[in-house]
Amino acid sequence: MAVQKIAVLGSGTMGHGIAQAAIVAGFEVALFDISQAMLDKAGETVRGNIDKHFIAKGKVTEEQGRDILSCLKLNTDMQKAVSDADFVIEAVPESLDLKKKVFADLDRFCQPHAVFATNTSVMSVTAIAGATQRVDRCIGTHFFNPAAVMKLVEVVTPIGVSAATIDIAVAVLKKMGKTPVKVKDVPGFIVNRLLGLLYQECAQIVLEGTATAQEVDTAMRLGANHPMGPCELADFGGFDVIQMAQDATYEYTHRQRDRLNILYRKMIEAGRLGRKNGKGFYDYHEDGTKTAFTIFT
Ligand SMILES: NC(=O)c1ccc[n+]([C@@H]2O[C@H](COP(=O)([O-])OP(=O)(O)OC[C@H]3O[C@@H](n4cnc5c(N)ncnc54)[C@H](O)[C@@H]3O)[C@@H](O)[C@H]2O)c1
Repeated sequence: MAVQKIAVLGSGTMGHGIAQAAIVAGFEVALFDISQAMLDKAGETVRGNIDKHFIAKGKVTEEQGRDILSCLKLNTDMQKAVSDADFVIEAVPESLDLKKKVFADLDRFCQPHAVFATNTSVMSVTAIAGATQRVDRCIGTHFFNPAAVMKLVEVVTPIGVSAATIDIAVAVLKKMGKTPVKVKDVPGFIVNRLLGLLYQECAQIVLEGTATAQEVDTAMRLGANHPMGPCELADFGGFDVIQMAQDATYEYTHRQRDRLNILYRKMIEAGRLGRKNGKGFYDYHEDGTKTAFTIFT
């Protein structure tokens, strides 16, 4: 099956980036959200990105840029958005109940051949697929933030998915300029499972006073050539998200080292969630600068 029409559900951080990558690749995209305000914001962001990163840089002409944008349709009516889609990518908030409900609705609204993909980071793709009568056509496509830019997409294969569905997902992602990597449906997949260890250990180093967050970050940037230090990366990901991911991983592995480091729980209790609220291992200021936060005085 050649995919032409894609529906993206949820127009937030991930949804609008996925939609952008899809229209740039030549797909017709219906972007659905329950919030008109979020859709408007997503439409504006995508328009701005096409202007700034494609037209202004001479990658496409102004006319080609308009043609690309004309492939994006914003919609607050889910049934309309998905009824003629060949491939649906769900990027609604990280709640198993919500995702199961969305997949059950999709099963009713979509054509029989349509493939459903979830962008979940933490939830069981197998459980989400189980809300439909088409388990063989459900899969995980785990994009990374910013979704329009980041090359990797983990293709998460739940129990019961068909080889044809995997092929379709891989073909769609390759056309979007992504590099798909297949992984079984186990919490953390590949990247977050490994990053989780880094997050755990950097928090432990800071907690026991071996080094400060700044020292850890400088060491890993200069010593391991990481573009961001682990504490900076933890701030970027968000401590609440790390908590959810780590709890799910621990529930699966029951290894002590996968248990969320107490420092993250304490930081969350103190209202520090990372960059998203300007307070993590660092304090983030309005002028774009950051300063080290003294965790223990
Ligand atoms: N943010 C990240 O770095 C990141 C990375 C990889 C995966 N993910 C996953 O992607 C998914 C979306 O995350 P996000 O960060 O884009 O969230 P977000 O909060 O930025 O956006 C979610 C959007 O979904 C909309 N929404 C809520 N209920 C809906 C419904 N029933 N139908 C359609 N839209 C609905 C909201 O209005 C909002 O616009 C989550 O599963 C998350 O775990 C996030």
